[in-house]
Amino acid sequence: MSADSPKPHAPVTAPARWYSDPERWPLEKQAIFAANWQFLGHESDLPVPGAWRADVLAGFPVIVVRDMAGEIRAFHNVCRHRAGPLNVEETGVCDGYLTCRYHGWKYALDGRLRLARDFGPAADFDPREFGLFPVRVATWRGLIFACVGEGAPDLEVLLKPLDTRLRDADWSGLKVGLRRAHTLNCNWKTYVENYLEGYHVPDVHPGLNAEIRAEEYRVTVDGHVVLHDAPPRSPDAVYDGLWAWLWPNIGVNVYNEGLMIERMTPLGHAQTRLDYIYLTPGGVPVPNATLTMSDQVTAEDIWIAERVQQNLDAGVYQTGRLSPKHEIAVAAFQGWVASCTSPCPEA
Ligand code: FES
Ligand SMILES: [Fe+2]
Repeated sequence: MSADSPKPHAPVTAPARWYSDPERWPLEKQAIFAANWQFLGHESDLPVPGAWRADVLAGFPVIVVRDMAGEIRAFHNVCRHRAGPLNVEETGVCDGYLTCRYHGWKYALDGRLRLARDFGPAADFDPREFGLFPVRVATWRGLIFACVGEGAPDLEVLLKPLDTRLRDADWSGLKVGLRRAHTLNCNWKTYVENYLEGYHVPDVHPGLNAEIRAEEYRVTVDGHVVLHDAPPRSPDAVYDGLWAWLWPNIGVNVYNEGLMIERMTPLGHAQTRLDYIYLTPGGVPVPNATLTMSDQVTAEDIWIAERVQQNLDAGVYQTGRLSPKHEIAVAAFQGWVASCTSPCPEA
């Protein structure tokens, strides 16, 4: 920018009450999380027909299963009898039926109710009307996504900017090498916004800052994908210099050996769960250097996000301003949240 070119505006942040008000959560759950693709796992989680994985996607219990023909299907993990769970463990392999844990109703892997165990004669009960509620499912480069609502654009279209950026990167041999989870005492948006800018890196992450060329850190918003490019200083660096993020809550961190998917799931308005899924060649253990660096950066981000949340809750700060140089993705994110949740009296 030359000295006399007009300066860009510094957008006003979203109001602090967005992050503290418990009444926003049910609204965001429906308008944002039910309406968009959520990361559910990797194809290697379902290696054989009958393999299933249960998860809770921002308050929606879901089960994904590989049917006997090899197709991946997803359903609400909610029995049509009296809302029992089909499975409560995280993962397993079934014999061709999903069985409710409450009274034992059995469903075929296409969702049809096959057996209402010992229900007894009933004139007005037709089992054909009591199949599992289906959930949209799609895969991209081996990653499985589900959408509990209608109307989300095709996953492929959404991920096009990232797909283009990755070009011919081969992820075909990757398998889940490690899963980790962390629970944070902050609103999900507090954590997401921290993820969406590299402005804090020199102050919060000295170790990471030493690995990347911070002066070349660049954030691009393309559709609903955010790309962070931060070239590594050395070819031996743990990071490959690309962090991608998909609206509303999925990070894709590219490492030299494989990648790590980071899902940022709200547990209500005041807590957030981070699920880390490391994908490595053939599912080999994650290299120690990668884990050490990742743990360090995570601990630093949790530390700052929880302190920011405490300050947002204190009620002294209402709004601030965003740097047009560093925080364009935060501004975009806040715009998307506003457009999904308005008209909202609190927006
Ligand atoms: S709730 Fe599932 S069998 Fe009763
Ligand atoms: Fe960070």
